[in-house]
Amino acid sequence: MGSYSLFALLLAAAGLFPFTSGSSTYHGKKKECHPFNKPGNMTLHQYQLYPETAAWDTNRCVAYFCALFNGSIAEYNPYTTKFTVIPFPGITHAPDQHASGIDYNPSTGLLHIVIDSQRPFLTEGADVSGDNWLIRYNPSTRTEIWRANLTSVTNGLWGGFQDVALDSKGNAYVIGTYPKSVLKVSNSGTISVWYPPQTTNTKVRGYTGAASLYGQDAMVVVDNEGVPESELVGNSNIYRFDLTKPTGIPIKIPRFPNTQFGPGDKIHFPPAYKQTVALIADDYRGTIVLRSKDGKWKEAEHLGLIPNDYPIFFERITPSTVQLGPKRQYLIGNNFPGPIVPGTTGGNHSDFPLFDITREVERLLKKKP
Ligand SMILES: *[C@@H]1O[C@H](CO)[C@@H](O)[C@H](O)[C@H]1NC(C)=O
Ligand SMILES: *[C@@H]1O[C@H](CO)[C@@H](O)[C@H](O)[C@H]1NC(C)=O
Ligand SMILES: *[C@@H]1O[C@H](CO)[C@@H](O)[C@H](O)[C@H]1NC(C)=O
Ligand SMILES: *[C@@H]1O[C@H](CO)[C@@H](O)[C@H](O)[C@H]1NC(C)=O
Repeated sequence: MGSYSLFALLLAAAGLFPFTSGSSTYHGKKKECHPFNKPGNMTLHQYQLYPETAAWDTNRCVAYFCALFNGSIAEYNPYTTKFTVIPFPGITHAPDQHASGIDYNPSTGLLHIVIDSQRPFLTEGADVSGDNWLIRYNPSTRTEIWRANLTSVTNGLWGGFQDVALDSKGNAYVIGTYPKSVLKVSNSGTISVWYPPQTTNTKVRGYTGAASLYGQDAMVVVDNEGVPESELVGNSNIYRFDLTKPTGIPIKIPRFPNTQFGPGDKIHFPPAYKQTVALIADDYRGTIVLRSKDGKWKEAEHLGLIPNDYPIFFERITPSTVQLGPKRQYLIGNNFPGPIVPGTTGGNHSDFPLFDITREVERLLKKKP
């Protein structure tokens, strides 16, 4: 063993090694969080939560939900079922500001949160004006480290930013939907255009979800290939980006079989499967399950769809399916608000379902390649 690896081992043992490589150590932590729920569905109780997606904190054993319409994050302690709202001054409750994407980095313990202007989503890309932000936040100290004004680089010419992935140097990659694009935000918060829009037509719907491949300096994105969300059947694909490249080059990941899906939304690699399984939200149908046995995502097995045929709370849509806790996978149910309560930015709901689809995922994983 060389001195470098001994050093790495010592740091890792102290829980300090910032970016471990290899799937066996990528969520490099000391103790597992306890399961917080019997297998089964749950209901979250928090006024105007309207969750778009969530992230599980493997160090503090809490979840963070993007409260879409409030433009805030809600920290959820599953053992006490208590929520703590994390507001962002000047953004939360501002008209048009949505909280739509989040990444929890288990190595640094930091959150990256994407706040977007809701206008592109309401107009299917016709109006891409409004402010968009990437916020770096330390949830342990409750401090905002920086916020990057994404519109200062796009000059309002394209938009629809809604998700983020990270590399091992602390750079963040924010994906845009109208049209597809990627902005790079450096460790210090400096923004550059990494994958520019390929068209000036902002109505061409592109990337909706991104997930980091920790340990590989890569990310996988969902591309809607121009099909608008109003189309009930999409033609989505997934692409892999090598994040060490000076500019973004999307490489299509072939799926076997090449089953049609979409319109796609978020993509998630549940830690329980060490980056060999991807869960993709298919807005109107449920969760697509893909597998890459070596975890490299150069190609993928398309294992199938877990339909969202759960009882409708207010409107059936699948924005995201994520792992919460040490092993269970949850479909985040509904996020349409209905009539807005006057003087607020959300509807009148306080109950939000989480559907436990762990068993269905396990069933699909029994498929032989
Ligand atoms: C969740 O609810 C659905 C619909 O009621 C039900 O079919 C499913 O079995 C439940 N899941 C679990 C794990 O109990
Ligand atoms: C959303 O904002 C309302 C005020 O309009 C507040 O009462 C509620 O707790 C907030 N919920 C979240 C999840 O931020
Ligand atoms: C963000 O940048 C845009 C474009 O430069 C600017 O119009 C807007 O005022 C900025 N927002 C804030 C809050 O500074
Ligand atoms: C919201 O729901 C509560 C409880 O059901 C009800 O009392 C209240 O009138 C509703 N408010 C609006 C604006 O719909």
